[in-house]
Amino acid sequence: NDEKIINLDKLTYAGNLHSLESALNDPRLVMVRGDIGDTNLVEQILKTHNPRAIINFAAESHVDRSILGPEDFIQTNIVGTFRLLETTRHWWGAQSATDKKSFRFLHVSTDEVYGSLENEDPAFTEENRYQPNSPYSASKAASDHLVRSYFHTYDFPVLTTNCSNNYGPYQFPEKLIPLIILRALRGEHLPVYGDGKNIRDWLYVTDHCRAIQMVLEKGRLGEVYNIGGDSERQNIDVVRTICGLLDKKKPRADGKSYAEQITYVTDRPGHDRRYAINAKKIHNEIGWAPEESFDSGLAKTIDWYLNNIPWIENVTSGAYQEWTRKHYDGQ
Ligand code: TYD
Repeated sequence: NDEKIINLDKLTYAGNLHSLESALNDPRLVMVRGDIGDTNLVEQILKTHNPRAIINFAAESHVDRSILGPEDFIQTNIVGTFRLLETTRHWWGAQSATDKKSFRFLHVSTDEVYGSLENEDPAFTEENRYQPNSPYSASKAASDHLVRSYFHTYDFPVLTTNCSNNYGPYQFPEKLIPLIILRALRGEHLPVYGDGKNIRDWLYVTDHCRAIQMVLEKGRLGEVYNIGGDSERQNIDVVRTICGLLDKKKPRADGKSYAEQITYVTDRPGHDRRYAINAKKIHNEIGWAPEESFDSGLAKTIDWYLNNIPWIENVTSGAYQEWTRKHYDGQ
């Protein structure tokens, strides 16, 4: 529709204006570079644009980086979310009764707040205890608690979603799937942590977006909704499937399989064994279900990366190259 979107983005290492190229000239998009923790800036945006909703996607989200340096995770995920909540609550309090009633603050979170599952455990429901195991998931858990408290204490109209591992086009190549595609094409080793049998539940990005939109429209205030792709896979299977698809779509010059590049490397400290989402609540209450299977989503993702090599070159800046050298090559 013709509704405006104001995109407040700090454009850190993982953000890039190239990812928004197709939308930058659209009059419905207002791009603001800045931090959710910048109270003056957020106040000014709220007063100028009077949004009917805020969706808080802003977060540091890479577990390995949170192990190396947790500070940014505390600042953005906890302090930033607190300031965004607080600034918005004050502005919201001064709106008319009708506007107050229809306003929504949707907080996007992760299944990692629930901790780790054993293979035989049932999937996470919204009732699971919070048991975060990394500085990343602990910081998201803290922000979820703050959001919850604003509902109970101030009647502030919040919604929270906890999703499983996302994948798809435009994902920064530090996350497993784009990292493996990129390193395979570059002829580098494909690092599989530990025994490769850790399990994640893969959710295609547009399925996630549709779920968020539906929760925004139909979600009950103060409620939490789990979002999962119903696609549990062991990491080693994900990596082998990517290699198999690349063998067909872009065979190696020497005719060998990309699987030859797979290398088992030292495990991530505190590596969660398994995540799995029970998405019955969002299905039953809101009518959402994933449309993409893992096979169809992965094929689309690989096609996108193969067709967007200039985007990859652009986002993998000097700072990113330094990170991969330090983290993967021990230099
Ligand atoms: P990741 O994409 O970092 O997401 P998360 O840790 O939030 O689930 O990792 C997904 C899985 O892949 C996780 O079990 C760790 C593993 N992994 C590797 O084996 N090698 C890698 O180089 C990376 C980045 C992840």
